[in-house]
Amino acid sequence: MPIVTFPKDKRCRNFAWVYETTARRSFYVQIFLRSRLRIMQTSVRTSFSKILRGKAIVNQALVFKEKKFRSLSIRTYQGGTSANYEFAKFLNSRLQFKKRCISSRQPQSVQRVHLDDGSQILSAELLLEKENVMVKMVNQGKYLPGSNTDVENQQFPFVWLRDNCQCPKCFHSEAFSRTMQMLDFDINCRPASLKVSEDKTSITFFWQDGHESTFKADWLSERAFTPRARALRLIDYRGNRVLWDARDFKRINEDESAQSWRFSYSDIMSKDSSLLAWLEYLETMGVALVVGSNPSNGQLRRLAHRASFVRRTHYGELFSVRAKDEPSNLAYTSEKLQLHTDLPYYEYKPGVNMLQCLVQWKGPGGENHLVDSFAVAELMRHEHPNEYNILSTTLVDWADIGQEPEGVDDDSGVHEGKRERRAFHSIYRAPVICEDREGYIVRVNVSQPQRDSHFCVKLSQVSTWYAAFNLFAQLLHSPRYCVTYKLKPGEILTFDNLRVCHGRGAYGSSEGISESLERHVKGAYMDWDEIRSRIRTLRKSVSLENESKVS
Ligand code: OGA
Ligand code: ZN
Ligand code: ZN
Repeated sequence: MPIVTFPKDKRCRNFAWVYETTARRSFYVQIFLRSRLRIMQTSVRTSFSKILRGKAIVNQALVFKEKKFRSLSIRTYQGGTSANYEFAKFLNSRLQFKKRCISSRQPQSVQRVHLDDGSQILSAELLLEKENVMVKMVNQGKYLPGSNTDVENQQFPFVWLRDNCQCPKCFHSEAFSRTMQMLDFDINCRPASLKVSEDKTSITFFWQDGHESTFKADWLSERAFTPRARALRLIDYRGNRVLWDARDFKRINEDESAQSWRFSYSDIMSKDSSLLAWLEYLETMGVALVVGSNPSNGQLRRLAHRASFVRRTHYGELFSVRAKDEPSNLAYTSEKLQLHTDLPYYEYKPGVNMLQCLVQWKGPGGENHLVDSFAVAELMRHEHPNEYNILSTTLVDWADIGQEPEGVDDDSGVHEGKRERRAFHSIYRAPVICEDREGYIVRVNVSQPQRDSHFCVKLSQVSTWYAAFNLFAQLLHSPRYCVTYKLKPGEILTFDNLRVCHGRGAYGSSEGISESLERHVKGAYMDWDEIRSRIRTLRKSVSLENESKVS
């Protein structure tokens, strides 16, 4: 049984969450170290065999149950530093939990457990002099092992309840939209009374102006303002993320027992479940290889359309990466391309990069380099906090100047051969490591060619920034993190352009490249907004499809 050790750190208040990975073959533990205002996140993947990296005190028990994948329970002991994973303990249980998490604030006991399938409202207190209503949720006696309480107190502000009334007057159920006018809204609204339904699964508020609003307990619970409900929502919002290094990559590339990063083009095009599997993997790992496309008939565009839309940039919709005369970008030479992310000078930097190999250089060179820059950034956060701080706060000027070349090899048919030559000059200022307000890394910008000579910072910040950036670059290029893969014709390298830095080895011989076709990669971008939306809708339709197959 694998043992997990979490170094003790009294300064942190921690959360830990367990949920299934998209691959559905393993479980995924996320540990949040909450120190001051920041939530740091460490991901720990658990396959059934092996686990763990990460620093945390998890002074609590976690229990997780998933109907298809047997059970997992993780337990850490109060005051101790060990945890264990037990599998198949609840194999015969019928309970079906979608997602489980338990706050780790209270050592020794598992508190505030809410079970999606069995929640009921036990009681609701109406305190008219206050702004909130208190709703106590209880599961139907289906306690998780180790729990010593079955009640969760949730408070909902009246103003929020009234605003979110789901009745046909206030909410358009087909458009999924609130119809109530803000200008007509009484922010001081109060209920005159409330009633819990007989079966205790819903609650109705009778407002002082005569309006009524009924809410299901589950619906309310998912929107609770408790730290746990908010953190759960954040996990859904952010999606899965599993950081990797070179060793992990070797496994997904070579180890047949691991979840491979390869997805079949024809499966993706013909089955929604395969499309979903590819997109979820891309979201989780940041990199996925689509194999078996035909290099010669526009399948890259079809793949993009299957997932979302092609995102157009000043290089066109589809762009050809090969050695060209008068290159508008260093990529259009046969030189080495250092690790970079594409287009850092866009405020809306394209989220996903797709590189379809049409023709590969036969000699040495022309291979791609890949790094999970978020993994490197997390390492820096822990081991080089000063440098991390500099890179995540200093605004850098990114820029691209040039001309969109004529007659770019674009198979859209619309622009082919008659594209206008249009000059561009893009600038965007952003740190190398971009965090959201909670300290969660959301984007990395790296590009030597496209870092502007304008560096709009104070004099005193310049040399320390270079030292920090140089360290980051060293770590990115180190064999611990950087991997190499040489694409074969028909393979499409798809990766998260906000996260994965990529590069290319120089190619060509001493005589140069006689034929421009000797290495030819076709590229296109998509945006995460569209893909995430697609993932959400596919999850619904694919699970409905599976259910109908079972029944
Ligand atoms: C690029 C790029 C990689 C390659 O065009 O930005 O990274 O394999 N190309 O040529
Ligand atoms: Zn209403
Ligand atoms: Zn690139």
